[in-house]
Amino acid sequence: MKTSVYSGFYKLSVEDRLKEVVEFAGISEEDAKVIADPNALDLDKADHMVENVIGIYSLPMGVAINFLINGKDYVIPMVTEEPSVIAAASNAAKFARENGGIFTSNTGSIMIAQVQVINVADINYARNIVLENKEKIKEMCNAKDPILVQHGGGVEDVEARVIDTLAGKMLIVHLIVNTLDAMGANAVNTMAESIAPYIEQITGGKVFLRILSNLAAKRLVRARVVVKKETLGGEEVVNSIITAYAFAEADPFRAATHNKGIMNGISAAVMATGNDTRAIESGAHAYAAITGRYKPLTVWEKTKDGDLAGSIEIPMAVGLVGGATKIHPTAQVAVKMLGVKTAAELGEVFAALGLMQNLAAVKVLATEGVQRGHMSLHARNVATVAGAKGEVLEKVVKRMIDEKNVRVEYAQELMKEYSK
Ligand code: MEV
Repeated sequence: MKTSVYSGFYKLSVEDRLKEVVEFAGISEEDAKVIADPNALDLDKADHMVENVIGIYSLPMGVAINFLINGKDYVIPMVTEEPSVIAAASNAAKFARENGGIFTSNTGSIMIAQVQVINVADINYARNIVLENKEKIKEMCNAKDPILVQHGGGVEDVEARVIDTLAGKMLIVHLIVNTLDAMGANAVNTMAESIAPYIEQITGGKVFLRILSNLAAKRLVRARVVVKKETLGGEEVVNSIITAYAFAEADPFRAATHNKGIMNGISAAVMATGNDTRAIESGAHAYAAITGRYKPLTVWEKTKDGDLAGSIEIPMAVGLVGGATKIHPTAQVAVKMLGVKTAAELGEVFAALGLMQNLAAVKVLATEGVQRGHMSLHARNVATVAGAKGEVLEKVVKRMIDEKNVRVEYAQELMKEYSK
């Protein structure tokens, strides 16, 4: 059985890490070359992706290891500019696997498209007409995407709400669409646009906006974990984490930062796979506020045995096909590396990652604080700037931290000492 546990992975060279990932994920040599090539996305492709292209902006891609989700091992590609994020996720995933790992589920790949109807005289009456014609609406929308329907997707339901707005009452029609392995923006927007004339005809109103909702509240992914108190360093640590969570639960100022930590992981993996980070971020934060008060996206509780139980529920509109995933060569390999079979499975992996990212952050905050870790990264940067490498670098970093003297000049002094 293959495992994503690799002790000392961070000590390997970049090339050796890639070799290990290739072996673990069973991707081809060609795919490995794509990952290793900083110009895998060439200018020509880039020029077709967006407008006014003048170059390509690169970011580091790393992998989170140690993830055991539903009994299966994953190595998760992450693209981020923030140090500590990938190491923290890998670390927390190690805690989780000691007790059987993380377990996940999803509500299906269901997107919502909104059709805004204004100027309806008898708006409640019109709402009933829309609902009465549900089957016809479904049929007309599905005719726009026979391929999606052929594969088992398409409009599954139609909902209609009357809302009060600054511009008067409006009828909002929701198309509830199963987009299968696509993020689905194109599919649902096409459907919403195409159904507009019919909605106008049956309501007597005027259709205004026709666009998907990023509050993908019917496309939820969930993850749960129990981490043994012994793994965390005792029941004290469990209590500390729960106290930190209670702060986020009660205070939106803290909840925003708590959720930022979750998204540190999720957005990095969403980015690596070529999915739309803004769609995921807006969905997450809107869902966090769905009760009318902004809340943390995770919950931390104590089990009857005194262990730590964590859970997350978050909208996850990600796809395996289409968008940048189809164009960006590195994103394509990142998806292959994950070995997921469906977009929903991809979303579940992201939920598990978000939960672990949050555990790592809250554990550090509730125990030693983030600055110690930052200090070691800072020392590592300073030693690198001073020109230290390999074993000497490790020694220089340790000395600078122990002596709380992190300066380039001091690093150079130490290097001289160690190279004697
Ligand atoms: C930093 O990028 C993320 C944290 O602030 C998250 C948190 O406070 O929970 C450490």
